[in-house]
Amino acid sequence: MSSTIPTYRPDVYSREAILDPYPHYDQLRALGPVVRLAKQRALAVTRYDDCKQVLLDDATFVSGRGVALNPVANRLSRGTTLNSDGEEHDRRRKILASRLTPKSLRSMREEVERRADAVVAAAVEKQHVDGVADIAEALPTSFVPDLIGWPQEGRENLLRWAGATFDSLGPVNAQTLRTAPSTIGMMRFARSVVRRDAVLPGSMGADLLEKAASGEVERGECPALMIDYLAPSLDTTISAIASALMLLAEHPDQWAALKADPSLIPNTVNEVVRLESPLRAFARDTEVGGVAVPAGSRVVVFYASANRDERVWDAPTSFDITRDAAAQLGFGQGSHGCAGQGLARLETQSILRSVVERVDRIEVTGQLTWGLNNIIHKLDHLPLRLVPVGEGE
Ligand code: HEM
Repeated sequence: MSSTIPTYRPDVYSREAILDPYPHYDQLRALGPVVRLAKQRALAVTRYDDCKQVLLDDATFVSGRGVALNPVANRLSRGTTLNSDGEEHDRRRKILASRLTPKSLRSMREEVERRADAVVAAAVEKQHVDGVADIAEALPTSFVPDLIGWPQEGRENLLRWAGATFDSLGPVNAQTLRTAPSTIGMMRFARSVVRRDAVLPGSMGADLLEKAASGEVERGECPALMIDYLAPSLDTTISAIASALMLLAEHPDQWAALKADPSLIPNTVNEVVRLESPLRAFARDTEVGGVAVPAGSRVVVFYASANRDERVWDAPTSFDITRDAAAQLGFGQGSHGCAGQGLARLETQSILRSVVERVDRIEVTGQLTWGLNNIIHKLDHLPLRLVPVGEGE
């Protein structure tokens, strides 16, 4: 069986591949449904149908031994929703999910839209902005930590900590080692927040600590669960918002289509997450009848490659906000499908709505740069000019 699996030698987690991953994904998809990654000693699944099949079959492809590509991170992330299976997973997911139901999201909508509009209004006032620092980071670094109940102190570290937490889920490489102290910093801080009961009143974190007080949840689980909801909420959403601004600036025809018909905003978010998927890949272990299948059994699911699979998408590399992009896999699929996607969509759509209302034209004015992270595909800088409505030449 293993002799029929082709091998791919280039390192898809090298600096160059992180910065420009798509040629690697194209080659992996062409090689076959399953390809051995020589460097990581893991099996890559990169075609749409196969990725979906793995994600939906959570009895065979388990998350409970970790979704990272290194054993240290798989050990450290025990206790999270992401890193659990079956009833344990359902229980953890339910603990905080009540804050992210469609009903809860409806009650937040007005506040998120108000905050988004203030962010966009301030950016339009400046005209020349960094689309990442001045727009994309605003809601994920304020609204979401408030919701989760992360105290004000230590917020200046959040982006660094959360980025490092994602980095740590890659293979052991220079990135993982460089960012290890920040990953540990976030865990230490979460433990101290729980120990001091320092969560904001009325927040998800406050619910969690109440559940711990009543014995519904073990107190020892709380730090991991606080991180569970915060860490994946930042860079992912920042990536989606910044990539949306970049793509709209680079494609004036799509920008014009969105201005003409703002009801395309929800689908635009799907198309952005499809084309520039914020989360590259996560792993699964294979298990048959409850027994781990040993050698080479770690399977890496490349969401970002599935989202450009030519077998499924017409002109997969074009940005087209009118195509039906709802089936994209950028939020995952199945039991581990993103628990925060409603919130991420609300944040991204609210920013886009205000941009469409307040801006006549968007231009990229300088060199944009992509960040280096094993898991997250995200712009670091996006120099933009926002020409306000009424001032277009
Ligand atoms: C555009 C933004 C986002 C993207 C692209 C994204 C992507 C993903 C993906 C691909 C997964 C699946 C992981 C797997 O298959 O193992 C996931 C899971 C998860 N996401 Fe997101 N995410 C985003 C925003 C958020 C936000 C805002 C939150 C929190 C408020 C969040 C919380 C979670 C959690 C808790 C899980 C684990 C779910 C589970 O294992 O059951 N995400 N996300």
